[in-house]
Amino acid sequence: MATSCNVTVEDTKLCGVKRVVLTGFMGSGKSTIGKLLAQRLEWSFIDLDLAIEERCGRTVPQIFAEFGENRFRVEESAALLTAIKGTNAVIALGGGAPETSANRDLLRAASETMIIHLDAPFETLQKRCLRQAEKPGATSRPLFSNLEGARARYMARRPLYEALSTIRLNAATQSPPELVEIVWQLLA
Ligand code: S3P
Repeated sequence: MATSCNVTVEDTKLCGVKRVVLTGFMGSGKSTIGKLLAQRLEWSFIDLDLAIEERCGRTVPQIFAEFGENRFRVEESAALLTAIKGTNAVIALGGGAPETSANRDLLRAASETMIIHLDAPFETLQKRCLRQAEKPGATSRPLFSNLEGARARYMARRPLYEALSTIRLNAATQSPPELVEIVWQLLA
């Protein structure tokens, strides 16, 4: 594994990449960076949370409130199964998608796929999520309503993001345009 201060790249074949998957905890910038990256690459952008909302005809908080987390995870896996078939696509996962082992298997088996972990300390992500929640029209994140629960999930998930991804980017110190530039260079 080659490591520089802000980028960690496993020995992976970067040419011939047909999809980029962004993973990381809530607030790590998956949707923001995914949208920008897709624009830059002229690829399509798939936001897994939006795909789930379309499948269910409900927002993510509504799905949690009406049906509970287990049902949300079932819908998330189904949405991922469709999303991962997309080519020339940037896919932003929800923060919990890698918790499901079938999702991890599916992602690992996907060929020509670059999986990027947008990494940041919990405190940074917490502040960001709180700031985002204050914006008018913001979608709330049900799992952030319990701070200690969110922290425990972060600790449990971080190794999963790490094991799944081939590239780790520091999403705390670099802005979305800077991160897009790094991915662009890696793909070039
Ligand atoms: C979740 C993250 C959310 C969304 C849902 C559950 C999680 O997506 O899928 O609220 O389990 O971490 P973001 O990571 O895009 O906020």
